[in-house]
Amino acid sequence: MHLLRALGIQLVSWIVALFALRYTITPPAGLGSVVIMQAGIAGAFALAMRAPRWWVMIHLLFSPLIVITRTLAIAPAWYLAAFVALAAVFWSTFRSRVPLFLTNQATARSLLQALPQDRAIHLVDLGCGTGGLLRRLALSRPDCTFTGVENAPLPWLVARWTNRGLPNVTIRRQDLWAVDLGDFDVIYAFLSPVPMPRLGRKAAIEMRPQALFISNSFTIPGMRADRVIDNDPAARPLHVYGFAARRGKNGRTVVEPEAELRADSTALSGDGHGLIAE
Ligand SMILES: C[S@@+](CC[C@H](N)C(=O)[O-])C[C@H]1O[C@@H](n2cnc3c(N)ncnc32)[C@H](O)[C@@H]1O
Repeated sequence: MHLLRALGIQLVSWIVALFALRYTITPPAGLGSVVIMQAGIAGAFALAMRAPRWWVMIHLLFSPLIVITRTLAIAPAWYLAAFVALAAVFWSTFRSRVPLFLTNQATARSLLQALPQDRAIHLVDLGCGTGGLLRRLALSRPDCTFTGVENAPLPWLVARWTNRGLPNVTIRRQDLWAVDLGDFDVIYAFLSPVPMPRLGRKAAIEMRPQALFISNSFTIPGMRADRVIDNDPAARPLHVYGFAARRGKNGRTVVEPEAELRADSTALSGDGHGLIAE
């Protein structure tokens, strides 16, 4: 839900609740009743607008929590500190809709097995978080090079620290949309469903023909993965895409999964999964 729309819902709910319980009845209702009504109206608005469930919860709890915390003797500096800490961790999550959560050990093992074994590769982790995955990969594959890209300040700092002293890891503070995917042999992403359509188009246009795009959990809409690695119950599914890009006459890039992957029977998942990128 857009931030301005969310604030609008809160504001309108306050106006309705105040008018209903404070300004049109005598004696006016207490603050507690107003807040309960405001929360109910805000939650109902969010439901009516088909907001995701977690937004409904936020609307229900937002004003009651403000009122409750105002009764606690907590110095304002603590709120500021909590805000700064959360902003440093989650940074642009409100816009990107990609929060911080980490690839688990079992999935890291699956990813290691999915990497080409016969040659040294350069892998980029788009949104590398605290960099633990890159450290694990870099220690297991000292022959390969790893780049992590992260835009949130605190995870980026932690990733730099986690990977200090590893000569085959570079951590960049950068927006993933500014990364040229053509520089890498393997592109790894563990993001959310929201950026996947755009990321799929970017990958299709920029990736080297032999490169692999590996997405933890989230698929590229409209394009079937060449291979889904999902044989460990403790691991998240890895969706592996290869691309062979051809320029059409109209300047659009027609992209098909890499033929080499199709020939691999263990990697096959079917036909009809071409993608046209604008
Ligand atoms: C789900 S976490 C994945 C962390 C890590 N790749 C892993 O698998 O353990 C996604 C990360 O992407 C980062 N992120 C989201 N949007 C980004 C962007 N536009 N540019 C760079 N990083 C971004 C978030 O800050 C978050 O740390």
